[in-house]
Parts: sequence; structure tokens; C-alpha cells
Amino acid sequence: MRVDDRPIGMFDSGFGGLTVARALIDLLPTEHLVYVGDTARYPYGPRPLDEVREFAREIATHLVERFEVKLLIVACNTAAAAALEVLQDGLAIPVVGVIEPGVRAAVSATRKGRVGVIGTVGTMASGAYQRAFEVANQAIPMNEIDVVCAACPGFVEFVERDETTSDQVHVLAERLLAPIREAKVDTLLLGCTHYPFLARTISDVVGRDVVLVSSADETAFEVRSLLMATDFARDPRAGPGSHRFLSSGDGGWFRRLGRRLLGPELDVVEAVQW
Ligand code: DGL
Repeated sequence: MRVDDRPIGMFDSGFGGLTVARALIDLLPTEHLVYVGDTARYPYGPRPLDEVREFAREIATHLVERFEVKLLIVACNTAAAAALEVLQDGLAIPVVGVIEPGVRAAVSATRKGRVGVIGTVGTMASGAYQRAFEVANQAIPMNEIDVVCAACPGFVEFVERDETTSDQVHVLAERLLAPIREAKVDTLLLGCTHYPFLARTISDVVGRDVVLVSSADETAFEVRSLLMATDFARDPRAGPGSHRFLSSGDGGWFRRLGRRLLGPELDVVEAVQW
């Protein structure tokens, strides 16, 4: 077996991708990881997709050129909606997004075939989820899934400020999730990697009987399959992987909040400039 010591690269606009990083570290503890949180330019959700695509290209190039990553995870739905195909076409390494894995997780979780999807304005307006569910429906034509989408502007900012259960975020959730409640979905796909940090508030609003699904675990499984299939995995006998975290914004804040959200693996935060 070939052994590849290069790290896996991943990025998000800020803390959201840490939900995916957690799943990846748990599933692949011997892989090296480099995470970029572009906190100087968050939130991506309200920005034009062209601008987000440029950010994604810039960060991806940095991860490839400076860290020689062997695989890239776009751990941000908005960036994946804007740039996944461009990155897959332009880079010589495998590039994995979070939208298709999330759809797969929702398809296997739903019992009645009524799924809600929530995400940023940019993700929802891009139509990426609508298209991904159409593709999934073609594969299961007898049991078509009804999908209801809702944008949740403001959720990301609450997470970045560490306000995940405040009265204010609850009031906002009541308003933004009303269409999801009315649609009587049995499964709600969290189509923004920040939203798992709001799971308690979201679940209080939509009801405990609605299953909340995120893309984190399914994305980690996809990465594992890719590494196995391409012989890019690190030798498990080489010991635990290292985890580097880079922030384009306030490094002290990234360490304090990020460590609480991700866990002790987030120890040192390095500044990053493109
Ligand atoms: N975590 C990003 C996502 O999955 C948040 C985007 C933002 O910064 O608004 O879409």
C-alpha cells in the first residue's frame, strides 16, 4: 500500500467547518489536517456567489501551494454552492463538498419523504440543494422526496458571536423556521455547517420529532472512501495526525470559541494571509 503523509485541507467562512473537522478527526485520527477559517470575511451567505467563488479559489490555492494538501474539503455550503465545480475542474487533487453528502444523509433519514433544508441566502438562492435532491429523486423514482427550503439569514452571525441559545436567536428561529414547521417535515437538513451549533434552538422550534441531519459524518465517510480508493491514506502505524488551524481574523477569538466548539485538538491558531 502506498502511504501519503500530506495533510487534508479544509476551509469555511469561520467556525462552521469545525463540525466537519470534528467528524473527520474522529473517523480518521491518523490523518494530518489543515483548517482555514476565513473569519475576516465571514459571513459568506449574503455575498454574491462570484465573490465567494474568488475567496474559495484564493484559499484553495493557498492550501495547495503552501501546505501541499492531498485532498480538499469545502466545509462550507455557500462556498460549495459557488465554487465546488470550479475547484474540482481546476485543482489536481480530489475536492469534496458538503451538499451531496448532506442530501444522502437526509434521504436515508427520512421516513415519510418530507424533508426541510435550511441554509444561507447564497446557498438557497443558488439552487444547489434543489438540484441535488432532483438527482437523488431520479435514483428513487417510486419514493420521491418533497423538499421545502428556507434561508436563515442571521444564524451564522449568532454562532460566530457564541450566542447559540439566547432569546434573540430563538425569536429569529421562530420566524425563519415557520415555513418548515408548516410543511410538517419529518427530517430537517442543516444545509450550513454552522447550524449544528444551533441544534438545540432549532430543535426546540421545529419539534423534537423532527430528525436533524448534518453533512458532517457523511462527508467524513466520503473522504475515507476516497483515501482508500486512491491509496492516499496516511500509514496508521505512523501515529496520530497533527491538526493545524488558521484564521484570517482575530486569532485569539478563534482559539477561545473554536476550542470550545471543536475540542482540545484546537490548540494553536496561526494567522493566515493570502
Ligand atoms: N458555514 C457556511 C455554510 O455552510 C456559512 C456561510 C456564511 O459564512 O454565511 O454555508
